[in-house]
Amino acid sequence: MKKKIWISLLLLLVLRVFVAYSLDLNFSTWWNIDCGNDVVRPPDLEKFLYWDTDEDLTQSGINARINPTTQVPKEMNTLRFFPDEAQKNCYSLPFINSQRYLIRAGFYYGNYDALSSPPTFDLYLDQKKWSTINTSIIEGSIYHEAVYVTRASGFLSLCLVQTKEGDVPFISSIEAVPLPSDLYFHLDTNYSFILVTRTNLGGDEVRYVDFTSDEKYNRIWTHGEIPSNCISVPTLPDISFTLENEPPNTVMSDSIQSRIATNPIIMTVDLPPRTPYPQLAYFIFYFNEIAALPGNTRTILIYSDGQMKSTVTTEFIKCKVVTIKAVTVAGPTINVTLGTTDGSTLPAIISAMEVFIRGESYEVANGLVTDEGVDELSGNVPAVNEVSGVTREGRDAMGHNELSAGVASVHSLGCLGIDVVHLVSQRPHGGRQTVECKIYN
Ligand SMILES: *[C@@H]1O[C@H](CO)[C@@H](O)[C@H](O)[C@H]1NC(C)=O
Ligand SMILES: *[C@@H]1O[C@H](CO)[C@@H](O)[C@H](O)[C@H]1NC(C)=O
Ligand SMILES: *[C@@H]1O[C@H](CO)[C@@H](O)[C@H](O)[C@H]1NC(C)=O
Ligand SMILES: *[C@@H]1O[C@H](CO)[C@@H](O)[C@H](O)[C@H]1NC(C)=O
Repeated sequence: MKKKIWISLLLLLVLRVFVAYSLDLNFSTWWNIDCGNDVVRPPDLEKFLYWDTDEDLTQSGINARINPTTQVPKEMNTLRFFPDEAQKNCYSLPFINSQRYLIRAGFYYGNYDALSSPPTFDLYLDQKKWSTINTSIIEGSIYHEAVYVTRASGFLSLCLVQTKEGDVPFISSIEAVPLPSDLYFHLDTNYSFILVTRTNLGGDEVRYVDFTSDEKYNRIWTHGEIPSNCISVPTLPDISFTLENEPPNTVMSDSIQSRIATNPIIMTVDLPPRTPYPQLAYFIFYFNEIAALPGNTRTILIYSDGQMKSTVTTEFIKCKVVTIKAVTVAGPTINVTLGTTDGSTLPAIISAMEVFIRGESYEVANGLVTDEGVDELSGNVPAVNEVSGVTREGRDAMGHNELSAGVASVHSLGCLGIDVVHLVSQRPHGGRQTVECKIYN
């Protein structure tokens, strides 16, 4: 009996934490594009996400479907391919000016053309090279993500460029999330930053799954391999204040720790293939401390390719974020080593890590994006705003149709004193819907 009460109390506590965090989730600002789909995909009751088609956003390309259409996530079942050899295969996306975005492009080949020949091609962001997409590297979905501050044109151009005859570019999904200005503020606004890895160390993959998720910006924290000299340890997320870059609590709830105090944690980070070297790498490390024993200390030394870059002394139930900017790396892999000082009694520990490389410069001169870097394209320069038919009329700055008044439905979990409110907003044109979910205590 007593045990039952404790379990109920614990459940209530967990729910309260969950309520506090769910209130912050703001996915009505996320933009999800299911490339190659003929119909808009309304929110399902699981993810509450609205997936637009791409038909108003590009004038070229042909829709195709994977067979069988059983891919998870669903947006990987359709794609748009660009067989046109003119090679100007651009999306023109209406965006808010001077806003930092997380932009993620998804690719799943799935032998849609029955040629068993996954292509390689280039991806451009506002006329500058973002990355090379080699779809034969992994069989599953491939994501390329960048953090990028939009220019003043009101549009962002995303272009797929053929690099080899016969290799037909395609794209399966585009996701964009506006980020608050203090998120990733160490990443300079005049450059694109290309995600190399975002790893949850000690735990499973964490991403937005449904409205209970505490990943608020649609980031994917992949499961990190545990080095053989390390163990996974539970850690407590510090909920007393908002941590820099707002890593989800589920990511901070576990860490990896070296088994022996004198043994460093060594992690290797692979840079994307075909990246020219050297590169400038930006590291973000997330630390968490659970050891409260008096007399114990933990001061971690952070090395990149054997060079000491920073130190951090952990504190009990306090998360710390360390950003190391603009480290020149020779590639194709970076050795990240976390050692401890001689005085430390506890071994190195870490909860999560993000690594970006700095992409092209978008420095503004006389109000125009400079031509730096465009020459490398050798004649394949995709024009800005290739698509002339796109209109922002009747759309908000994110390109969504404007919303009209909402209809609410309420579920009550009376026994726990919690109400779940489903707010359904009707879009005025085409009967489109978006769903927001709020929880009140
Ligand atoms: C959600 O985002 C929109 C657009 O940025 C903003 O106006 C609104 O205040 C946000 N809502 C919450 C709850 O943060
Ligand atoms: C793509 O990746 C595969 C497998 O790693 C490799 O064999 C191939 O050379 C790559 N293609 C290009 C064009 O880099
Ligand atoms: C990374 O570590 C490996 C193994 O210790 C070593 O062989 C390699 O030279 C290191 N690379 C760099 C760039 O330090
Ligand atoms: C970005 O470029 C502009 C124009 O050259 C410059 O004034 C500004 O300081 C730069 N911003 C950063 C963060 O470097």
